[in-house]
Amino acid sequence: MSQGRLNQLPEWAALAKHRAELGEVHLRDLFAEDPERGTKYSLQVGDLYLDYGKHLVTGETLGLLRDLAAARGVAQLRDAMFHGDKINFTEHRAVLHTALRAPRDSVVEVDGENVVPKVHAVLDRMAAFADRIRSGEWTGFTGERITTIVNIGIGGSDLGPAMAYEVLRGYTDRGLEMHFVSNVDGADLYEAVRAADPATTLFIVSSKTFTTIETITNATAARQWILDAFGDDAAVAKHFVAVSTNAGEVAKFGIDTTNMFEFWDWVGGRYSYDSAIGLSLMIALGPDGFREMLDGFHAMDEHFRTAPPEQNAPLLLGLLGIWYRNFHDAQTHAVLPYSHYLSRFTAYLQQLDMESNGKYVDHDGRPVDWQTGPVVWGTPGTNGQHAYYQLIHQGTMLIPADLIGFAQPAPGLGVFADQHDLLMANLFAQGQALAFGKTSEEVAAEEVPAEEVPHRTFRGDRPTTTILADKLTPSVLGQLIALYEHKVFVQGAIWDIDSFDQWGVELGKVLAKRIEPALTAGAGDTSALDSSTAALVNRYRAQRGR
Ligand code: F6P
Repeated sequence: MSQGRLNQLPEWAALAKHRAELGEVHLRDLFAEDPERGTKYSLQVGDLYLDYGKHLVTGETLGLLRDLAAARGVAQLRDAMFHGDKINFTEHRAVLHTALRAPRDSVVEVDGENVVPKVHAVLDRMAAFADRIRSGEWTGFTGERITTIVNIGIGGSDLGPAMAYEVLRGYTDRGLEMHFVSNVDGADLYEAVRAADPATTLFIVSSKTFTTIETITNATAARQWILDAFGDDAAVAKHFVAVSTNAGEVAKFGIDTTNMFEFWDWVGGRYSYDSAIGLSLMIALGPDGFREMLDGFHAMDEHFRTAPPEQNAPLLLGLLGIWYRNFHDAQTHAVLPYSHYLSRFTAYLQQLDMESNGKYVDHDGRPVDWQTGPVVWGTPGTNGQHAYYQLIHQGTMLIPADLIGFAQPAPGLGVFADQHDLLMANLFAQGQALAFGKTSEEVAAEEVPAEEVPHRTFRGDRPTTTILADKLTPSVLGQLIALYEHKVFVQGAIWDIDSFDQWGVELGKVLAKRIEPALTAGAGDTSALDSSTAALVNRYRAQRGR
């Protein structure tokens, strides 16, 4: 949807002018001018309450940002995505993760075929399989019940289920031991299986392409572990299932394709955890919990598709990101959950956001001359407060942040739930301190020695969005993830980049395959390498005695 260069649009110029006019806008002033700001700048979407009053924006700013979105055709591109158009223009693919959570009776067509029946057929197969594992009906080679599940995958074939399993632990079957192995470092697989019994262990090999070297290497080692235990090829069928789009490679690997759960090329890796890639999660959570999560995703999809711009939460978050990235030169965006269970949430968002919007050429292949995706980072907020929050409060960089919390403690915490008020007090206090800081007058009034006043003064004006839900449930997780998916979409549409390819990660994969032979004994020719890499390889060979 290219409508001319982004930074030559009048709407872009209007925002730049507005930014200059606003100058150093102060949140203290904005709140003083409008006592209603705290509630006016808020949205309730499904179970999520979004407080965006603590942003460096006025009503005019938001209007100008929405004008930019309209000028870029964000709504039209959104409709094209939901419609199954091939908006992944470098890979010529539809982008239809939204079809993965579409209700059974909906119609979503790709190349004239309604894909919803296929989606639900796979979900039904997954549910039947998950029930067989959970009930003990599916047994291992020696007839024992499966109690350990190891998902082997990487990137989008790991991060989603690994994150969601942590988030929803309170809803999972605690009798099942779950592991997520992604790193090609043998330590990852070793730690997952060192205390496991092969007789009760099931491996789920998750890979869209089934050619990813890390995953295939780990899966091959796992298969050998099973073969060493049972000395019989027939054991593989009882201890391995696959999740992939590539039946040919699955069969070549030695997994019976009747034990394969399918998904499709119109599901991007980083948008895939509500496809069969979520099988491990479904086993842990049970099919009903998984479906509840999908309903949460779908509710946010519908909101994004139908809500007017003024009330559209993903559009709003996307535009606020544009405001800071392009008009305040913010280089990073922090996501700071106030929930221990969301400890891997930001790691998941890193792939979603940075693999999607880390691009420097536009739709027409020209280098962009505006900034695109920010660095996304963060860990649970309370721990961050005692580590890096200092820089957010008093450093020289502007770091917009999302603070995420829940009114109710997570389920099943028993007496430990009493600590929840303190946790949430920290969230609210941080949003307040970041926004309003502490003036030098306030510091001086505390009879602080004059020379210390500047050090103890907090400028404030550090923008945050607070996302508050009543409870952390499977549905709420679905709503949250879909919110961020569509936020990333909005930004990619405005920046005029392909948010659905990932060519940047391909080069490293190719070069690793090329270098590996040079590391092994007898194959030490490093003459084709640059001198720095050759020196490192030679040193490594020497240290390994080769
Ligand atoms: O990191 C690149 C990437 O292609 C991701 O987009 C993807 O999620 C990951 O590798 C894993 O790929 P696959 O599922 O094909 O093994």
